[in-house]
Amino acid sequence: MKVYFDNAATTPMAPEVLEAMMPYLREHHGNPSSTHQFGRKTKSAIETARKSIAKLLNCSPPEICFTSGGTEADNTAIRGAITQLGVKHIITAPTEHHAVLHTAQACAESGDVRLSMVRLDAKGRVDTDHLRELLTAAEEKTLVTLMHANNEIGTMIDLDEISEICEAHGALFHSDTVQTMGHFPFDLAKTKVHFMVGAAHKFHGPKGVGFLYINREVHLEPLIHGGSQERKMRAGTENLYGIVGMAKALELAYENMEGHRARIASLKQRMKTKLKEALPELSVNGCEERSLYTVLNVTLPETAQADILLFLMDIDGIAVSSGSACSSGSNQGSHVLRAIAADEAASAGPSIRFSFSRYNTPEEVDYAVEKVVKHLVGKEVVK
Ligand SMILES: Cc1ncc(COP(=O)(O)O)c(C=O)c1O
Repeated sequence: MKVYFDNAATTPMAPEVLEAMMPYLREHHGNPSSTHQFGRKTKSAIETARKSIAKLLNCSPPEICFTSGGTEADNTAIRGAITQLGVKHIITAPTEHHAVLHTAQACAESGDVRLSMVRLDAKGRVDTDHLRELLTAAEEKTLVTLMHANNEIGTMIDLDEISEICEAHGALFHSDTVQTMGHFPFDLAKTKVHFMVGAAHKFHGPKGVGFLYINREVHLEPLIHGGSQERKMRAGTENLYGIVGMAKALELAYENMEGHRARIASLKQRMKTKLKEALPELSVNGCEERSLYTVLNVTLPETAQADILLFLMDIDGIAVSSGSACSSGSNQGSHVLRAIAADEAASAGPSIRFSFSRYNTPEEVDYAVEKVVKHLVGKEVVK
C-alpha cells in the first residue's frame, strides 16, 4: 500500500488539471507575446486564467501577477515593498517559511530594513498586543509579513484582525497564503491585505507556477527585468500550461471547498484520535482551535528516533515529513518548533507532520496509525 501524507510539501496533480493543460502542451505552442494567431491563442488562455483566479478571489485581474511559485511571489512582495514603497522596517515572526524569513533577514543584513520579530505563544499564535506595540513604536514605513497558516504546525492567524491592525497603523501587510490558497475562501474586496501568495502545487495544480496578488493601491516595479510580460511586472515568456493548470486547479478547489474541507478535517481528526488512544504520551503541536485542517503535527514520545521511524514508514509505503519538507535533508530540526518552545522542543521526542488531501481515505489513516504504533510500541525505533 502506498500512502501519501505529505500534501503540505506538494500535492498530486488533479486529472482534470492535466486534461486542461494538454492542449497547451500538444497543440497551442505560440509565444503569448507574438501578435499572430498562434500567440493570440495562448495570450488569451493566460488572460482567461487570470480572470478566473481573480473572480474566485474577488479581486480584479490586473492584481494577479503570475510567478514561478510561492518563493518568488514572497520575494517580489518583500523586496518590492522595500525598494519601491519606502519600507524601512519589517515585522515578521520566527515561524515563517524560509521564503519569507530568509528574505527579510537578507534585507536586514544588507542594511535596507530594521527587522522586528513579533512575540508568539507556545502554540505559534501571534501576540497581537505586541504587534500593536511594535507598530506604535515604529517611526519608519513598516511592512508586516505574517503567514496565514503555518506549513509545519498549521497554526493560523486571523487575516482580517491582522489586516485591521496594520491598516490602523498605516503599515503594509503581506501574508504568505501558500498553505491556505485553494483550501479557504478569500474575499479580497473585504480583506485589506496588500500582498498575498499562491503556489499551484499546493492545491493539486502543477509545480513551478504561482502568483502574487498585488492590491491595486500599491504599485511595484519589476524584480525581473526584460520583456513586458505580466504588465511589465515580471519579464520572461510565461509558463503557459502551468498557468492554465493553476487556474483549473483553483476552480476545482472552489467547486467543492466545503465538501473537501469536511472530508479532510475528518481524516485529520481520525488520525489524531487514534494516535492519542494508542500513544497517550504523544502531544499535538500548534493551535488545535485555529488550525489548518490539512496538517497534523505531533511530537512523539521521547524514546522514539525520528529518522528510523521515518525510514520504516517509508518502507511501509507511507510518506510523511519530519517538519517542513522544504528543508528536508538539512537535518537541522524544525526552526518552527524551536521558535515556539525552544526548551521543550530540544528535550522532547521527534515531531512528524502528517498532511492530508482530498485524495486520502480513512483506510490510509488506519494503515498509517497501525504502522506507527507497531514501530513505536514494538520498540523498533526506541533509542
Ligand atoms: C508557507 C509556504 N510558503 C512558501 C513556500 C514556497 O513555495 P514554492 O515551493 O512554490 O516556492 C512553501 C512551500 O512549501 C510554503 O509552505
